[in-house]
Amino acid sequence: MVFQATTSAPVNIACIKYWGKRDTTLILPTNSSLSVTLDQDHLRSTTSSRADPSFTSDRLWLNAKEEIIKDGGRMSTCIKEMKRLRKQLVEDTDPNAPKLSTYHVHIASYNNFPTAAGLASSASGFAALVSSLAALYSLPCPPTTLSLIARQGSGSACRSLQGGFVAWEQGSQPTGLDSHAVQIAPESHWPTLHALICVVNDAKKGTSSTSGMQRTVETSPLLQHRIKNVVPQRMVDISKAILDKDFDAFARITMADSNQFHAVALDTTPPIFYMNDVSRAIIAVVEEYNRVWVEKTGKVKAAYTFDAGPNAVIYTEGENVKEIIEIIVRFFPQQETFKDPFGLFANDGGLKEGGKLIDGFNEAVAKTWELGSVKGLIHTKIGDGPRVLGEE
Ligand code: DP6
Repeated sequence: MVFQATTSAPVNIACIKYWGKRDTTLILPTNSSLSVTLDQDHLRSTTSSRADPSFTSDRLWLNAKEEIIKDGGRMSTCIKEMKRLRKQLVEDTDPNAPKLSTYHVHIASYNNFPTAAGLASSASGFAALVSSLAALYSLPCPPTTLSLIARQGSGSACRSLQGGFVAWEQGSQPTGLDSHAVQIAPESHWPTLHALICVVNDAKKGTSSTSGMQRTVETSPLLQHRIKNVVPQRMVDISKAILDKDFDAFARITMADSNQFHAVALDTTPPIFYMNDVSRAIIAVVEEYNRVWVEKTGKVKAAYTFDAGPNAVIYTEGENVKEIIEIIVRFFPQQETFKDPFGLFANDGGLKEGGKLIDGFNEAVAKTWELGSVKGLIHTKIGDGPRVLGEE
């Protein structure tokens, strides 16, 4: 008998950023966070796991290359925790269930997005690992329970176990049992929300999230203000904006939180710079675009957010995507990848020239910073949580 399961899991991009741990082993955060799950038709990690009594050790292949599973490391913790759940929830209650928790596993994981997407793959990767082992082990667990384990692989991974809008509640228990992810609203609640990924640089970043955030915890006074006085209210406000489908409020909070996250990075000693001039120019373009729409309608139409790197993700309603892509391409000649699976542009291979500017847009504002180019543009939208692709 073969015991095997394959699942895919999505990428998520935070609107309220997780930055800082109060426990680095259990991966418990210093603040709650909230993200949008992106559509895995376009960007996903796919993981197959197999348990077999003939295997002599747990083994892992990432994008076809074998990786060492370090004893006591994050990967080995996740596998160990999943085996523990199998034993506790299945084998201890059903004497006929195969003792899969005693078998070693072989795990193969693959990202369908090129590194050129400039996206951190740890969130979708650990979410795919945990969901594939959950399928292999037939665990009767809701995603919130599984999020406790994905969290120990990579904090942000706990939010990739569900679709739509997902909050990671920081919790207060030292065990971490209340530090889990909950869905605020499914993707079907706001299907018109789209995301545009602007790849500014796909090289591996200088300071990893893991070490960068620890340095911030140790040295930044601004982080303490953020944790105590800013994030709790933002979590309440953005959840309400999502439930009300109030894009204007959602966008303003998202941009403010991205900016404060980069401010705490700068407030770290020595300071950490994740954005570059092209990132800043993207901010200037989106701010100018929003200024024009606020003048006309009182509301913003786009929100930028940046993780621990220079690449931008722009959230907007579907009806504005074409206009925004045209403006981005006009200011940032795009060179390599152009992915628009929605067919807004006839030529998926590359949009060479930008469209015309909206009335009232002041070009000079956008040119405050060195413009440079955007290497790739990927148009995607909000999506669902992990999918089981096969089970035996
Ligand atoms: C800026 O989840 O990659 O993307 O828990 O150490 O693995 P570890 O960190 P990680 O940090 C993500 C930081 C962020 C913000 C976010 O996704 O909330």
